[in-house]
Amino acid sequence: MKLWGGRFESGPSEVFERFSGSLQFDKKLLDADCRGSQAFARALERAGILTADERERLVAAFEQIRTEARDPKYLEGAADEDVHTFVIRKLKDRVGGLADKIHTGRSRNEQVSLDVRLWLRERIDVDLELLVNLMGALVEMARKYPNAIVPGYTHLRRAQAVPWAHYLLAYFEMFARDHERLSQARARVDLMPLGSGALAGSGFPFDRDEMARDLGFAAITRNSMDVSGDRDFALDFLYAASVSMLHLSRLAEDWILYSSEEFGWLELGDGVTSGSSLMPQKKNPDSLELIRGKSGRVFGDFTSLFVTMKGLPMTYNRDMQEDKEPLFDAAAQLTSALEMSAAVIETTELHASAPLEAAKKSWVVATDLAEALARSGTPFHRAHQIVGKLVLESIQQGKQPLDWTAEQLTAFAPEFTADMARLLQPTEGMKTRDLPGGAGPAAVAKALEDAEARLRNWRP
Ligand code: ARG
Repeated sequence: MKLWGGRFESGPSEVFERFSGSLQFDKKLLDADCRGSQAFARALERAGILTADERERLVAAFEQIRTEARDPKYLEGAADEDVHTFVIRKLKDRVGGLADKIHTGRSRNEQVSLDVRLWLRERIDVDLELLVNLMGALVEMARKYPNAIVPGYTHLRRAQAVPWAHYLLAYFEMFARDHERLSQARARVDLMPLGSGALAGSGFPFDRDEMARDLGFAAITRNSMDVSGDRDFALDFLYAASVSMLHLSRLAEDWILYSSEEFGWLELGDGVTSGSSLMPQKKNPDSLELIRGKSGRVFGDFTSLFVTMKGLPMTYNRDMQEDKEPLFDAAAQLTSALEMSAAVIETTELHASAPLEAAKKSWVVATDLAEALARSGTPFHRAHQIVGKLVLESIQQGKQPLDWTAEQLTAFAPEFTADMARLLQPTEGMKTRDLPGGAGPAAVAKALEDAEARLRNWRP
């Protein structure tokens, strides 16, 4: 069956049908297509095109199609051009000639926009919930190790000591921004396009606001040409998904390192790791590697649609059918990566003594000492110089920070006072950084409480 054909003397060639058909992937939109058409049937009744009885028969038929489509074999062997055509064919099987009225004043250009919006809105809601779960898992882990400290890194070199909770809350902030970005994308998805026609609006007196209410949309779109040629809402989602995958990938990379024998900080749960077919001792972080791997794939999906849209003349062009596979793929990868990441966090143990040792052995306290000198009146550049020399001397003598006594310290440079020796403990200097957003223990405790309050706000 075709939704067009009158002006053609012969039908499409077999190669063109194979090349242009989208049913094999846009079948994902079947449920949204039926729900959209049910609302459209109600709009047609209000516009005087359908009687109440006709509307009822159509709505019931779409409901039956929705139910039957739960059977995975429902689409087997179907060769229709796209999901919209498939659904109309099924409708014809049920209601005969009445089906010819459903497409009155409607174009597939607006229908595909509607279907994708309905589908995407649900996917985003799932991902928003998964993001909240993930942030919850981070907070729970932070609560589990209230006193753990780790060396924080810049350039992958030990920099300054921070509470493990502060590190986890850094990711909390990234995922909170992802939540915000996805919510913003959702707001642009949440607009009702029907009534736009192919590009020029509809010749039928549809109450578009009523259609929006019927389908639970926040508002209607404002320009029919824009609707026909617009995939910004899909790009917004793909960008939000890409940034989220970027964050998941960086967390994955951290934890692959931190769980290595070289670091020895983290023990990943058996349930999220795999062994080697050859080397009996191996416990590999495959879940994290796949999260990292899948992120590249999602960036590709974003790039794919971005480039597809570039240079398309106004308004709809068939190129736009290529939006679906990247969109569906990115949505599937994001959802699975969010689920996987939460499962990893929930089952990972921190061996707090390893990062504590690493902090003690290295000069993560150097900045604390320099700042203490500056607080007691030494100009900072001079203080920096003194502590730099202390580090150099220590390296030459094979000394660690805690090998220095208060007497040795004050003997090394007269600017040092005996009480500054306590700053050789990595946990001490941290206490000076208690300003909002800092790594001081009181600041982190407050940040943790704030995070919990934000979580409560996001949870239904
Ligand atoms: N399968 C098409 C798509 O996804 C539906 C719209 C077709 N419209 C058209 N004028 N050929 O974009």
